[in-house]
Amino acid sequence: MAASKEAWGSRVGLILAMAGNAVGLGNFLRFPVQAVQNGGGAFIIPYLVSFLLMGIPLLWVEWSMGRYGGKFGDHSTPFIMDNMTKKRFWKYFGVFGVFTNMGVMAYYTYIESWTLTYTIKSIKQDFVGLDTTQVGAIFDQYVDLGSGINLPSWGLIAFLVTLSINIYILSRGLSGGIEKVAKIAMPLLILFGVFLAIRAITLGATGIEGCADCNSHLGLNFLWQPEFSSLKDPKVWLAAAGQIFFTLSVGMGTIQCYASYVKERDDIALNAMSAGWMNGFVEIVLGASVVIPIAVGYMGLDWIKENANFMMAFKTMPYLFDQWGPVMATLSGVAWFGLLFFAGITSSLAMGTPWMGFVSDEFNWSRNKSAITLGVVILALALPTILFFEYGVFDEYDYWTGTVSLVVFALAEVIIFGWVFGMDKGWRELNYGADMKVPNIYRFIIKYVTPVFIFVIFLSSMLKPEGGDWAAAFANLGSGGWPLASDSIIGQIFHLKHVDGELRSVVKWFESGSPTPMFYVDMSRFLLLFVFAGLCVMVKIASNKRKNKIPIEHHT
Ligand code: PHE
Repeated sequence: MAASKEAWGSRVGLILAMAGNAVGLGNFLRFPVQAVQNGGGAFIIPYLVSFLLMGIPLLWVEWSMGRYGGKFGDHSTPFIMDNMTKKRFWKYFGVFGVFTNMGVMAYYTYIESWTLTYTIKSIKQDFVGLDTTQVGAIFDQYVDLGSGINLPSWGLIAFLVTLSINIYILSRGLSGGIEKVAKIAMPLLILFGVFLAIRAITLGATGIEGCADCNSHLGLNFLWQPEFSSLKDPKVWLAAAGQIFFTLSVGMGTIQCYASYVKERDDIALNAMSAGWMNGFVEIVLGASVVIPIAVGYMGLDWIKENANFMMAFKTMPYLFDQWGPVMATLSGVAWFGLLFFAGITSSLAMGTPWMGFVSDEFNWSRNKSAITLGVVILALALPTILFFEYGVFDEYDYWTGTVSLVVFALAEVIIFGWVFGMDKGWRELNYGADMKVPNIYRFIIKYVTPVFIFVIFLSSMLKPEGGDWAAAFANLGSGGWPLASDSIIGQIFHLKHVDGELRSVVKWFESGSPTPMFYVDMSRFLLLFVFAGLCVMVKIASNKRKNKIPIEHHT
């Protein structure tokens, strides 16, 4: 098998690659925004609880599944799961572990390409002397491809370059590609992060006229002062759990793939913790110390509470850096966007590996062929997000592949591990060769607490009531039925809207002859479904091939 030649070069390399997989745009862009939108310090407790009860258990489960699968020469979740179970259908759940990566990789690589462009723009000093609106407008123009008519555009070219870099590195393999990149990118990323964090912490009050709360320390306080009232708010729990999934890259099949290249006798328990805690450090120490404090320093706490969003990194940060004079602005811009690029690429490379592992295991494709086919599929998936960005296609991918799929898959794998494979075997697997003592309590947590936790999260996203008001929804259960929110999973599937006080499915693809944003969104859903179905067919073919192979192997 082509893939069995792949292996990690060293333990440090493996940990850095795994940490690189986890540390991503999620740590620097998603985390601070989620925290602000969910009450700052109020977010932290649900976040930490989710880390302990869901994040850590899933890390251990996934590393164990991966190394176990690797023993049998399986490097992607469909057949890793197949090996752990007797029922044939589980391998189709495993398709999520390839699919999710591809869906996320499509839009993630696009964001990564923005960071590349913005690093270059910072070096060229494109933002010097501009006001906030002008800096924001640069971004809007960059992502608006005139509905795809004004080709070629820089946005598209930068994407193609970024994707090609990814594909090239993937074609170099684990130790020759990914590991080398991680060894350079991770230390640089931390260096850049520390530089920016120090700048943010030492910024203090900026004395902007008419802005009494323009002080970076207020931003830090807001993020760090724990608030217990939020513990009762399901919305905050959902957001915190979602962030844990995304930032640790659990529920995606990526970790299983990386771990499947770990040698049978090598430790996984401590490695999993090293990578997981390193991610936590980068997220809560560095991630929290850059965007929000700096932005509060110049725009004030109230502004941040109102306006914090993902695009701020591009639309606002260059303007803020410019307040420090041209030299510091360039240095900070390069540090910030360079950091994002490194964080991004070590994650997108990880997302590419499940496909690489799958096709080389099952179809014996060479590294080059696996990498190029991946590039083609990712390009096909990414084009709609790029061309129809402003119609919400990008967010649609993030919702289905970057949010919902993770929960579904995590639930499947934790049930397989604790209940189908069996906790006794699972526990032995995790502890085999372990360089640390895994606390016994985790045996119980993995078997009972984590599945229930994930199930509750899944159910509450599925059935979320209008306005997230669970108390009112339950109180009205007898009389008025269940007021499903339009952003519940069911509401999203059917495009539910409240019209004249009634919940209706409103589907409109064309308006006065031209397609509506919903048309683009629904087409992108079909595309994702098509990819999922295609992967299922490939798994079916692979499994037939395996069946035919066994007798031959026995005879020889
Ligand atoms: N964990 C990465 C981040 O925080 C995202 C990621 C998702 C990485 C899926 C790998 C696989 O940005």
